[in-house]
Amino acid sequence: MKKLLLAISLFALTVSAATADPVADRQALMKANGKAVGQLAAIAKGEQPFDAAAVLAALTTLNDDAQKLDVAALFPAGSDTGDTTASPKIWEDMAGFQAKVDKFKADTAAALATPPADVDGVKAALGVIGQNCGGCHELFRIKKG
Ligand code: HEC
Repeated sequence: MKKLLLAISLFALTVSAATADPVADRQALMKANGKAVGQLAAIAKGEQPFDAAAVLAALTTLNDDAQKLDVAALFPAGSDTGDTTASPKIWEDMAGFQAKVDKFKADTAAALATPPADVDGVKAALGVIGQNCGGCHELFRIKKG
């Protein structure tokens, strides 16, 4: 019994350690964003045929990721150090950063609500969504290397 309890508490420790890493969590979300945008870009560029289901899946991922961007949980004070490219400007201008997050949420929700029906639609949706990625990165992400 003691051993079992110990095993359970050790397990609980590893689980909480895994979720208490906001930098890794936000980077994982961003990586998924990058992958979803890549899928849409391949269709926009004609490298992949238009596929309504694939487009919907990519937009769903983007919208899910956007809605998961909880600034307080993923960008807590002090998480600007270590293996991160988050700019200190986030914490200097929380309101500005939150506004960018809110816009991203609104734009991905709108794109998902009226999914593109053809390649031109994908290009348009990508244009709107892409401005969120680039616009936020330019202000709130530091370039490394
Ligand atoms: C509201 C601001 C914001 C928006 C919108 C945003 N990002 Fe990011 N992104 C960041 C920040 C901040 C980081 C740095 C995270 C870190 O290293 O802690 C980042 C990092 C990344 C990374 C690198 C992740 C890693 O492994 O280090 C990728 C890829 C990325 N973003 C893709 C995207 C794409 C694609 C979009 C649009 C669909 C997007 N982001 C929208 C703020 C944003």
